[in-house]
Amino acid sequence: MAQDLSVLFIGDVVGHVGLREVLRQLPALIERFSAECVIVNGENIVDGKGLSEVEAKQLFDAGVHCITTGNHIWENWKARPLLASTPNVLRPHNYPQENPGRGWYVITLPDQRTIGVLQIQGRVYMQAIDCPFKSATAALAKIKAQTKMVVVDFHADATAEKIAMGWYLDGSVSAVLGTHTHVQTADATILPQGTAYISDTGMSGPYDSVLGMKKDVAIKRFLLQTAHKYEVAERDVRVCGVHVLIDEASGTARSIEPFMSPQPRRSI
Ligand SMILES: [Fe+2]
Ligand SMILES: [Fe+2]
Repeated sequence: MAQDLSVLFIGDVVGHVGLREVLRQLPALIERFSAECVIVNGENIVDGKGLSEVEAKQLFDAGVHCITTGNHIWENWKARPLLASTPNVLRPHNYPQENPGRGWYVITLPDQRTIGVLQIQGRVYMQAIDCPFKSATAALAKIKAQTKMVVVDFHADATAEKIAMGWYLDGSVSAVLGTHTHVQTADATILPQGTAYISDTGMSGPYDSVLGMKKDVAIKRFLLQTAHKYEVAERDVRVCGVHVLIDEASGTARSIEPFMSPQPRRSI
């Protein structure tokens, strides 16, 4: 009999402070959503730039099945051997293939069910890499030969590009989940052909900040229009992401539920 697969996706983890909070909350989140598969975007863990073997091991030991990353992975030299040696630490698929690592992975769960994870990156306001739409189609031809269920992490800046990708992949993947912009969007939905969609899953890190970085440095950069060294902020650390329930028989999504833990304060 067909079952549902419960997937927990955690948005961009910022700093070791963000990693600590993810590791602290993960057992409760797995229990809350009865999660059977956990995917984490780890592009900002070490000083905002990528991750190394140490942080990847901590996440895998905590029950994470696959780590996605993004543009900041390339700014951490220790991430390159990690990408080269660890098939379930992904980098966006549409970077030139001579770079280390790979952009998709098929997870086999203990009960032998399989789910693919594909990461692609947008081009609007970002690097001029291969077309994310054509790259996704090419990768999905290989992934769908192995499994019906596929979660796509679309690491992109422009909301329009993310929404367009959602429509483009509607019906051919289980979920298109936006990352990179660090602010959870209020547009989580199931598209008409059954793909779960959200423009951004949100940041897991310090919210007394500008996108995870210390406020004074970020403000100075805007005021002075010159470079100043970013530092990861420290306070008001929260974990953000989405829970997606996937129908195993069809590979389409039954539900998508965004979460932020703890909730933000909205009144005094
Ligand atoms: Fe990020
Ligand atoms: Fe990014």
